[in-house]
Amino acid sequence: MNRKQISMVLFGTALAAGTQLAYAAPDWTKVPKREVSVFHPGTTPIEWVGKKSDHSGTAGLKKGETCVGCHEEKGGLNFNFKRLADKELEPKGAPKTMTYPVAVQAAYDASNLYIRLTFKSPSGGADKGDKDNEVKTTVMFPDAKVPQSAQVGCWAACHNDARSMPNADDKKTKYVKEGTYELMQWKSAKGAKVADGSVSTDRKMEGGTLGAKAEGTKSGDTYTVTFTRKNPGEGKVIPFGLAIHSDHASARFHHVSLGYTLGVGADGDVKAVKQ
Ligand code: HEC
Repeated sequence: MNRKQISMVLFGTALAAGTQLAYAAPDWTKVPKREVSVFHPGTTPIEWVGKKSDHSGTAGLKKGETCVGCHEEKGGLNFNFKRLADKELEPKGAPKTMTYPVAVQAAYDASNLYIRLTFKSPSGGADKGDKDNEVKTTVMFPDAKVPQSAQVGCWAACHNDARSMPNADDKKTKYVKEGTYELMQWKSAKGAKVADGSVSTDRKMEGGTLGAKAEGTKSGDTYTVTFTRKNPGEGKVIPFGLAIHSDHASARFHHVSLGYTLGVGADGDVKAVKQ
């Protein structure tokens, strides 16, 4: 081997090692997809959901039923989207696309849990408050102290007096009365920092304990966002909810999922596969 050949070999090895580091994440072709629909929830915070005169599901929720149990049908959601787009529940204006599917995949190894979301981000939003980011993708994990954490997804953190709700305090963020949500967020702006935060008495976009990392790509109108967080432990079943801000949406103008469970090598709505 001459010098040039040697350096080529060395360069090749370095490249392979580098590639391995960057893509230590799973082989997604071997991981099943669970379709989860996100929807524009208008102004239906936990206070609305828990008020009998507004919502027929109130009694069922008290008995322990889940949002998904009543509202997911044949892979989609059975909401009356006209009602959710109407002035009563959406005074500012609703997005053109009220609901769309997100393919959710999960895998884990000894140290990490990987969650991959694939979705087509719709345009036609009604709020374009985030100039920098076309898309933001958030995953929230309630702990067991969050009220109805196994039933309500992100709703325990969503209140009628939070920022961007009608007549609410402009500085008040998401909060929860008891317990904590951990959250991670990917933003589409070039070089944007991945948020590793929490929601307790207020929302913090940093200082979280998930060890969150994320990578996102866009191909055509399809986004693929892969999160890495600490493995919560094999055999655990953890509740989670998703939020996607598309078309430069800010604050409450997101599409959200109901509450689902993720099983780490265990049964759940989404089953994380060992790799
Ligand atoms: C026991 C069944 C049940 C449960 C549990 C339930 N809902 Fe409902 N929900 C209903 C029914 C029935 C309606 C339709 C009419 C109404 O509200 O009177 C409805 C309506 C809604 C609407 C308004 C749109 C529409 O189709 O009218 C939203 C938003 C909603 N539910 C969200 C939730 C969320 C979020 C949860 C969990 C925190 C939840 N629901 C739990 C039964 C349920």
